[in-house]
Amino acid sequence: MTPFPDPTPLLAWYDRHKRTLPWRMPSGQADPYRVWLSEVMLQQTTVATVGPRYARFLARFPDVASLASASWEEVAEEWAGLGYYARARNLHAGAKALAAGGFPTTVEELRKIPGIGAYTAAAVAAIVFNRPVVPADGNVERVTARIHAEEAPLPGAKPRLAALAQRWMDSAAARARPGDFAQALFDLGATVCTPRNPACAICPWREGCAARKAGIQASLPRKAAKKARPLRVGVHFLVADPAGRLLLRRRPDSGLLGGMLEVPGTPWREEAWGAAEALGQAPLPGLDWTVLNGEAVHGFTHFELRMALWRASVPAMPAPEGFAWWEPAAARAAMPTAMKRLLDLAGL
Ligand code: ADE
Repeated sequence: MTPFPDPTPLLAWYDRHKRTLPWRMPSGQADPYRVWLSEVMLQQTTVATVGPRYARFLARFPDVASLASASWEEVAEEWAGLGYYARARNLHAGAKALAAGGFPTTVEELRKIPGIGAYTAAAVAAIVFNRPVVPADGNVERVTARIHAEEAPLPGAKPRLAALAQRWMDSAAARARPGDFAQALFDLGATVCTPRNPACAICPWREGCAARKAGIQASLPRKAAKKARPLRVGVHFLVADPAGRLLLRRRPDSGLLGGMLEVPGTPWREEAWGAAEALGQAPLPGLDWTVLNGEAVHGFTHFELRMALWRASVPAMPAPEGFAWWEPAAARAAMPTAMKRLLDLAGL
């Protein structure tokens, strides 16, 4: 059975218009490690941002073995600024598992690797191993919702959209080129079937698009109303020695920014911190603190964070247990964006 619309014109469009991207390799030469890395990086980050960072990551960790034998600190440092650090943890955990056994080639086996979820398994299986699966990312969901004029809102509609997208693999044309078909959907979503102003006039699937016929394409996919992001606040303590080095620590391995370098501080919570209460969380007792003007702000997925910054100087001394002294430039390179905002506030 040929599903509607026929994948053939989309594949023909892809052959003419596919984007040149660093992780795309001639058919049959796709390297699983490189594709896996690209798919993990692309999950929450734009193609434009991923490009240079992808090359840098590969230069430092050129294969599964080098990533598997790296320390978490090295991986975290290379990931700094890309956000959603759980992805880097998953990548590192996955590399350790893969270094022992090699890359599996089916969705089911890929799913068994720690840190490889449904989307990543499907993307690697399709792109590298030409398995007949359609990985459903945001682009694929949008294209599919429009083609079928699916009006149920995300995220509830995700399973239905994934099942509808998978139906395209019933066609011989798509089954012959599953990796290209998946990437054709990605590219169509990114360049033609865009969120705001879809360019329907140049779409290879315009004849088959139910949303376009109904004139509702720009309003799909619908999204369930989002709750406003709550606010959380914290107080952070910037301690400098006479050489200008900063007293920093790593966050606990689990949880938000797990294992990343941080300027020590209070927990982040909704209730404001009183000065005496915050002081109880300072990394060293008895210092003469200056409260900096302004605050550092960072948006996480589930809350907005506002951080106050207190600053103090100490004489040359060994770092207390659990802390280390860092040069500001090296600290910045290794830090997540939320923590860089604190250095910005301090003018470092
Ligand atoms: N988004 C997610 N995966 C992608 C890929 N392989 N090519 C382009 N965009 C993508």
